[in-house]
Amino acid sequence: MPFAQITGWGMYVPPKVVTNDDLVASGLDTSDEWITSRTGIKQRHLIAQGEATSDLALRSARQALKIANTNPRDLDLIIVATCSPDHFLPSTASIVQDKLGATRAGAMDLNAACAGFVYGLILATGQIEARRCKRVLVVGADALSIYVNWNDRSTCVLFGDGAGAVVLETSDEPGVLATSMGSDGSGAKLLQVEAGGSRLPYSREGPGSNDHYLTMDGAQVFRFATQIMGKDAEKVIEGSNLESEDVDLFIPHQANQRIIDTAAKRLKLDPEKVFTNLDAYGNTSAASIPIAICEALEQERIKPGNHVVLTSFGAGLAWASAVIRWGQAQPASRSAVGRLTRGIEYRLSRLGSRLRRLSRKLPGSR
Ligand code: ACO
Repeated sequence: MPFAQITGWGMYVPPKVVTNDDLVASGLDTSDEWITSRTGIKQRHLIAQGEATSDLALRSARQALKIANTNPRDLDLIIVATCSPDHFLPSTASIVQDKLGATRAGAMDLNAACAGFVYGLILATGQIEARRCKRVLVVGADALSIYVNWNDRSTCVLFGDGAGAVVLETSDEPGVLATSMGSDGSGAKLLQVEAGGSRLPYSREGPGSNDHYLTMDGAQVFRFATQIMGKDAEKVIEGSNLESEDVDLFIPHQANQRIIDTAAKRLKLDPEKVFTNLDAYGNTSAASIPIAICEALEQERIKPGNHVVLTSFGAGLAWASAVIRWGQAQPASRSAVGRLTRGIEYRLSRLGSRLRRLSRKLPGSR
């Protein structure tokens, strides 16, 4: 049986940054202290008017293909995990497929909310292991800001927009070792956008209705998340015949620092083995784990041979986890010079976007 290895990765967040203080300045009854201490979030990136989820997905996908040194025409399948698609139909994946020029690839969207990227990774792995596909692009892209009620302080402070992508390829080396997927639809109403689907089309919303906004029972979701993350991570660690101490990096869904800390405690992981970046992005839904993978690689916190555990949860309720034995990141057949050049290109592009973000924060730049 062939294995599935990640050979390319990319991320993109829109340039517009909204800090906690910006929310306070806009009149929201909150404070930087409350948001930071209850969630760990300091700022989030939001799409601009006219920008859509496929625009974010496309940029992250192009970066991932470049690092994998893969021609879009060699892709067999594109999966875009999103719960904020450009349209209900066509799929966002088909839009991305067309813009990439991935003329041989099948394309589909996948909705498992914040767990969508790990679901996509698991489905892609299955296609590769069954020899039905050789190269699959999996994108997690969301713009939950479109559903957010900016007057609801209990939800609007949590979410940010972004996209992350990976290329998975057939490999002789073990890559994705163990996986888990789960759902408990009895919790469907705990986190939902009620209107816009077949149950309550937009046209049938009552006058002045708020049904098109995201609503959440934060305390219940918090309780569910603190239980499921540690439990599901334990399940995949055991499924890959590893012990907790064999885990080199834990990449949890970036929703709330307190949820992450609870899961890490259950797994008895040292803090340096837990990756977090939600201070900079908030909860980017399906994009959170692939964005974290990109930043962990950039910070050299993932090295060849490392065991990386991904665990996600979200609306549905749904959850998914995977253990990855990280390969060479680029197939060994490619030249060292090529790998070095792509690494430098990637770092320069990330440095460029960081500088742009910093320059926007300078006084007088707004
Ligand atoms: N600023 C100031 N006060 C606030 C804010 C805010 N932004 N939001 C809520 N409060 C107030 C509440 O009104 C409440 O006041 P009250 O006691 O006077 O009624 C008080 O703070 C405490 O509220 P709690 O809900 O108890 O706060 P908690 O510590 O539980 O934190 C939070 C709330 C952050 C939402 C937490 O419950 C949480 O993170 N839940 C999980 C959410 C999550 O992860 N969702 C994403 C799922 S992934 C997906 O699929 C999209």
